Amino acid sequence: MLKTAICDLFGIKYPIIQGGMAHVATAELVAAVSDAGGLGIIGTGSAEAGWAREQIHLTRKQTDKPFGVNILLISPFAEQVIDVVLEEKVTVVTTGAGNPGPYIPRFKEAGIKVMPVVASVALGRRLERAGADAFVAEGMESGGEIGQITTMALVPQVIDKVTVPVVAAGGIADGRGLAAALVLGAQGVQMGTRFVCSEECVAHPDYKQAIIDASDRATAISGQSTGYPMRALENKLVHDFWEKEKTGISVEELMEFGMGKVRLGLIEGDLENGTLLAGQIAGMIKEVKSVKVIIEEMIAEAEAIIAQLHNAMGGSGRG
Ligand SMILES: Cc1cc2nc3c(=O)[nH]c(=O)nc-3n(C[C@H](O)[C@H](O)[C@H](O)COP(=O)(O)O)c2cc1C
Repeated sequence: MLKTAICDLFGIKYPIIQGGMAHVATAELVAAVSDAGGLGIIGTGSAEAGWAREQIHLTRKQTDKPFGVNILLISPFAEQVIDVVLEEKVTVVTTGAGNPGPYIPRFKEAGIKVMPVVASVALGRRLERAGADAFVAEGMESGGEIGQITTMALVPQVIDKVTVPVVAAGGIADGRGLAAALVLGAQGVQMGTRFVCSEECVAHPDYKQAIIDASDRATAISGQSTGYPMRALENKLVHDFWEKEKTGISVEELMEFGMGKVRLGLIEGDLENGTLLAGQIAGMIKEVKSVKVIIEEMIAEAEAIIAQLHNAMGGSGRG
């Protein structure tokens, strides 16, 4: 059975992690993923600390399995959310949009594991010295905020330069992706877009349907000029954002324009004027399924592929 270092590190059955996603990775999804043997992660986004505490408590009511919290370091409430997480002592913290280095010692003292999301080798090396327990190496195929390197190129380069386990993210949505990540040397995968299209996810049904209807070329990047590029389904808002970026208005004005748009897209289902965060793998997702089915199908498919490869090599360890 598929079991890796990441399973031992977090006490989980399968090496499948549901990425923390602002607005949509709430207790319902997190508890379902952890209950099904993966690791669910609450996405605190720009929410206030009270919301984060409530979601932690709601998750604990629904599962006794390990789960984590994602902290968006550019959130105005990041410091308060960190304090909540330190008090609540969840299994693991992942961090997005920034350098969590200064906070790592406090998490470690509280017995909380730290798994920063990195998009470059340099940040991984620096954070390993600061005490990170594992990394998510996230390629630019992903939905949400992105770096500049693809998953295929980033993952082995990070693995070569750090000694702790690395989880691959970006462009993974089935057993083929999981098997490929393991072949690259990753100890597991983190998925976002696939889990948005799960029955348990609170995302608006029209947004889920937009992902299901998407083709391979349906996503686009906006916000390059703000320093926080974002991948989402291409829609009217993306075009409006590009137009604004061309006018040369300040980063503050652009950020102001983007305010509230993620909630509008993900929760209110405004397909024209909302941000519809999704990765390039959206084109392969064709059905809303339960979390349990997503995870079990993925594991069975990855195991079958690995067995086939083994047989192709003669099945005797020649490979
Ligand atoms: C709707 C959505 C919201 C996201 N929000 C966050 C976030 O708040 N913090 C974060 O670190 N990553 C965020 N991500 C990235 C995911 O955690 C995950 O790493 C990524 O989706 C993996 O790529 P995939 O979409 O190809 O599976 C988000 C992704 C999506 C699709």
